[in-house]
Amino acid sequence: MRNRLAHLIQRDGRALFLPIDHGYFQGPTHKLEQPGKTIAPLLPYADAIMLTRGILRSCIDPLITKPIILRVSGGTSIIGEDLSHEGITTSVKEAIRLNAAAVSLSIFVGSKYEHESLMNLSRLVNECEEYGIPVMAVTAVGRELEKREARYLALCCRIAAELGARVVKTYYCSEGFEKVVQGCPVPIVIAGGPKVESELEVFGWVYDALQKGAIGVNLGRNIWQHDYPVAMIRAIRAIIHENATPQEAYKLFNELKAEKSKIEK
Ligand code: R5P
Repeated sequence: MRNRLAHLIQRDGRALFLPIDHGYFQGPTHKLEQPGKTIAPLLPYADAIMLTRGILRSCIDPLITKPIILRVSGGTSIIGEDLSHEGITTSVKEAIRLNAAAVSLSIFVGSKYEHESLMNLSRLVNECEEYGIPVMAVTAVGRELEKREARYLALCCRIAAELGARVVKTYYCSEGFEKVVQGCPVPIVIAGGPKVESELEVFGWVYDALQKGAIGVNLGRNIWQHDYPVAMIRAIRAIIHENATPQEAYKLFNELKAEKSKIEK
């Protein structure tokens, strides 16, 4: 368990996870139509990638040495009745065969299928602990993005930790995020959610979340849906692993963007 966690969480105690699991309920998400192609230039800057077994098997070179966080929950779609109605899709045996460093599963607190998703987490933890595999709980909000506020997120994160998650993925919120972290005894990483227009806004979330105790990110769309994804991931990496401020990250982003534009001309 500790060795797997050490592959994910770096020696500075920080982590940059790159999720490309969105297709498991969204289908061929914009810019993730060919996941292998999308992430190839980003891989050197990620500490781990998060994805499903199908994409791992069909789009990712087995020779890569990046740790894998295997998404093992699903069974719903964006056009289906209820996104919270997930089950466990992938066995622990498969996770071991694929040499996963961790597995991840969504929980839907306050939804119709709250109980099922929390029992899924508990079952997965029971099995994974036997083999020393960390479980990352994904505190999902489904379509209700407005749920991303401290009281709700703190509730979800704490429940995930109580049920045995070793790492919790949640969302950043500008007010009270420190309460989310303080109430959760295991490391927290933040997701980005749908892509926003301002790079500086994303850098601000990441920086503030770290100041308030998060260990890093599991951030996808605001990186790979950007026109300059490498500049985005490198700027975010600078905040996480080099303690860059949002302004320093923005400066780096602009320099990398200018370099890339020059090469393309
Ligand atoms: C949701 O589809 C997944 O759990 C993602 O891994 C998670 O939401 C992080 O990705 P993003 O930063 O794009 O929200």
